[in-house]
Amino acid sequence: MGTGDGRTSDGTATPSGGGGAEPPAGGRGPRLRGWRGILVWGGIGAIALFALIQVIPYGHSHANPPVTGEPSWDSPRTEVLFTQACGDCHSNLTTWPWYSNVAPVSWLVQSDVDGGRSELNVSEWDRPQDGAGDVVEQIEGGGMPPSYYTWMHSSAKLSATEKQALVRGWQATMRRSPPIGGG
Ligand code: HEC
Repeated sequence: MGTGDGRTSDGTATPSGGGGAEPPAGGRGPRLRGWRGILVWGGIGAIALFALIQVIPYGHSHANPPVTGEPSWDSPRTEVLFTQACGDCHSNLTTWPWYSNVAPVSWLVQSDVDGGRSELNVSEWDRPQDGAGDVVEQIEGGGMPPSYYTWMHSSAKLSATEKQALVRGWQATMRRSPPIGGG
């Protein structure tokens, strides 16, 4: 578009309606045909579907169960780093963002939090923690936190120094406060 002389559409894009000079033939009703009809009805359909999926109960509870036990952190810094980068999915102190109320994002957030808590939950240190032994590997390998999460939560993105501090701090914390049944 816009090669030189503005917008003299030579009939190729018929219903552009830019200047409103040439209304296409036909009344109001029949206009909703062809690509325009597809857009309008498709849009209405999408909005209806969007509204409908909001009613599905999954993803709305946003439960933060009680904290029944926590590791005895080796330092406040370790706890802060963990909370910042991992706490939303690996503790019961999840901060639920506004979009976690909106399906289908709410479903993804819920499944992340449920899945994360079941592997490792620093708020339930009174039960075995299967993932505790894999924390260092996950941090160093860059598997955790997930990249789609740090994209939305820049504060969860750990610098090299922070990674190192969290790894060291986690190891020290596990020495003084290992999970039940080892990790
Ligand atoms: C956006 C949510 C989210 C964040 C943030 C997050 N995790 Fe996870 N984590 C998950 C989910 C979901 C699983 C289980 C599914 C999987 O293994 O991918 C998991 C699994 C794990 C596991 C077990 C992996 C295994 O295969 O044994 C470890 C360890 C772990 N996370 C550590 C961390 C650490 C450490 C951080 C912070 C640096 C972190 N996670 C941040 C969601 C998250």
